[in-house]
Amino acid sequence: PRVVFSGIQPTGVPHLGNYVGALRQWVNLQHEEKPSTKLIYSIVDLHAITVPQKPEVLKQRKREVLAALLAIGLDPERCTIFYQSSVPAHSELMWILACTASVGYLSRMTQWKSKLSLDSSSTLDQGPVGSRLKLGLFSYPVLQAADILVHRATHVPVGHDQQQHLEFARECVTNFNHAYGNHLVPPSTIISPAQRIMSLTDPTSKMSKSHKAQRSRILITDTPEDIRSKIGSALTDSTPGVSYDPAARPGFSNLLEIYSVFDAEKRSPAQLAEIYAHTSPKIFKETVSDALIAGLHGIRDRYLDLSANESYLEKIEKEGARKAQESAQETMDIVKSAVGL
Ligand code: TYM
Repeated sequence: PRVVFSGIQPTGVPHLGNYVGALRQWVNLQHEEKPSTKLIYSIVDLHAITVPQKPEVLKQRKREVLAALLAIGLDPERCTIFYQSSVPAHSELMWILACTASVGYLSRMTQWKSKLSLDSSSTLDQGPVGSRLKLGLFSYPVLQAADILVHRATHVPVGHDQQQHLEFARECVTNFNHAYGNHLVPPSTIISPAQRIMSLTDPTSKMSKSHKAQRSRILITDTPEDIRSKIGSALTDSTPGVSYDPAARPGFSNLLEIYSVFDAEKRSPAQLAEIYAHTSPKIFKETVSDALIAGLHGIRDRYLDLSANESYLEKIEKEGARKAQESAQETMDIVKSAVGL
């Protein structure tokens, strides 16, 4: 049986990168997959605490992400939508996987290495020995593997930046199955056809929640005025005309990518570049804004309505937790018996 699983961190209302890279696929799969395919989407609050969080803020952000997922069109009747921490089996399987996962593999992962190189209390040749970095951050990929494997997911729709984590999840399957027999299912990645969405203020780095500048990202609940203003001030370059060349012209190329995703005629970034080759940056940006505003239309209003409806959100939370616990329990029974627990 096909099982789709994916997750998003509760960092507040998702940005355009999350939407284009992953969430839009989550919604589309509701129609593309047969009704027999289980669709399971998690708001990964246990991953969120790998960096310091204020408890009240975290609670609020989880709610925001839940309301946003419903606002983009995820149907709680069709999908299981739940908070990771409401299903203890995720943490339990993580521990079991940790006992066959290799430290060497984890320490070579790019996200960890980039955190390590930013950490002044450790040096690269010293490795993590002197580091203040947390064990939870190091083992982040093991928890992510557990998320996927505990639901026996066959397909995981994510953006480009999650590929290495998915490879690690497959590695966990190999290690576990080698030790205990063929019990876990290796998941395939469904990568978004669109490129990574880049920051509007620094188009050589990806659009992210952690970037300081608010103007670097578009939230899917931004007003049309916000969108126009952020796209209008997006960093481009002073070469005349519009062309698609991600290496030489990252700013324009990113706007072309965004335009292409929301283009009603589904033209590619390169095709759009030809059409707008001689257009001024100002007019081009207005055209991109129009397409984006049309593409996100309705999300903001639905989000505001849902956010005000606490009792409805609570009901969805409870129902999601119940369905996800049930799904995870099947795997835990198999795994525990295989391990002898
Ligand atoms: P997170 O919360 O950072 O991002 C959620 C999804 O959005 C995609 N994404 C992007 N895609 C294109 N361009 C961008 N600029 C961009 N920024 C983010 C991400 O690829 C992701 O698909 N570790 C995961 C959460 C997670 C998970 C899982 C995912 C935990 N367990 C199990 C899949 C399966 C993360 O931090 O995603």
